[in-house]
Amino acid sequence: MRVVVTRRIPETGIEVLRRAGYEVRIWPGPLPPTREELLQFAKDADGLLTLLTERIDAKLLDALPSIKAVSNMAVGFDNIDVEACTARGVVVCITPDVLTETTADFTWALILAVARHVCEAADAVHRGQWRTWEPLGFLGQDVAGATLGIVGFGRIGQAVARRASGFRMRVVYTDREQRPPEIEQQLRATFLPLDQLLAESDIVTLHVPLTPETRKLIGARELALMKPNAMLINTARGAVVDTDALVAALRDRRLWGAGLDVTDPEPLPADHPLLQCPNVIVTPHIASASEVTRARMAQLAAENLVAALRGERPPRSLNWDELHRKG
Ligand code: DGY
Repeated sequence: MRVVVTRRIPETGIEVLRRAGYEVRIWPGPLPPTREELLQFAKDADGLLTLLTERIDAKLLDALPSIKAVSNMAVGFDNIDVEACTARGVVVCITPDVLTETTADFTWALILAVARHVCEAADAVHRGQWRTWEPLGFLGQDVAGATLGIVGFGRIGQAVARRASGFRMRVVYTDREQRPPEIEQQLRATFLPLDQLLAESDIVTLHVPLTPETRKLIGARELALMKPNAMLINTARGAVVDTDALVAALRDRRLWGAGLDVTDPEPLPADHPLLQCPNVIVTPHIASASEVTRARMAQLAAENLVAALRGERPPRSLNWDELHRKG
């Protein structure tokens, strides 16, 4: 068996693949392979270990007919056309759970950093602008006691909610699929329809996957519902937010701030208007980037791939059941 890994990943994952006896080809560049490069590099491969930077669609699969499994080292899978994979008998796997806590931690890093101008203030010190204690300098918003609105109450949304109790916050959430009463009770979280959540929250944090239904879920209309001193946090996918509408809201100071680990487009060019807006922190899609978590993601992605190529049920597959349903 020959497998292709589309970038250098933590060794834990590579070891799993080598121990399985596979020939492992690792894309050596610091940037993702282009479509053409990937087609060449993955010729005759049986499996792909991909990242969210690779688009896996019908065209690619048709050009690489030897591929039997695609294992994404991510919980999100908007880069993969799962239907096209299933139609061609290709197993698709992802890496949920292992990154939940790390992503929730980072969401809180952004909440606190935006609320209290942490990056701006630290930059000022680096630039030699700390002249005195300023009674009016870097005034932020209180997080303790504020209302936290969570859009998408899956694993990561719930982990974010769990951390809010120390801040004595009112937690409200919205979710299209679930309203779990025992979790609501445990986390003291109240369900609200999206519009009401936007109108009542001081901090709105996004934790939905990117699907046709959630693309530009937060647009001009939704931003206009938010309080002028509210902030928007996004560690999910950039395209869940209408970037132009967000730029307009921030520029006109109709929104107090934004903390974005994901953007549309990604990467965000240094001259993008979003970076000229007041009180915006943009980080380069690093919410899951802790040493331990990335190692676990690599390991799970590799274990998924090995199982799929052996014809065994992978630990976390999106379409194994569908592919193996009898009749
Ligand atoms: C994911 O897993 O989908 C994140 O965006 C990267 O960790």
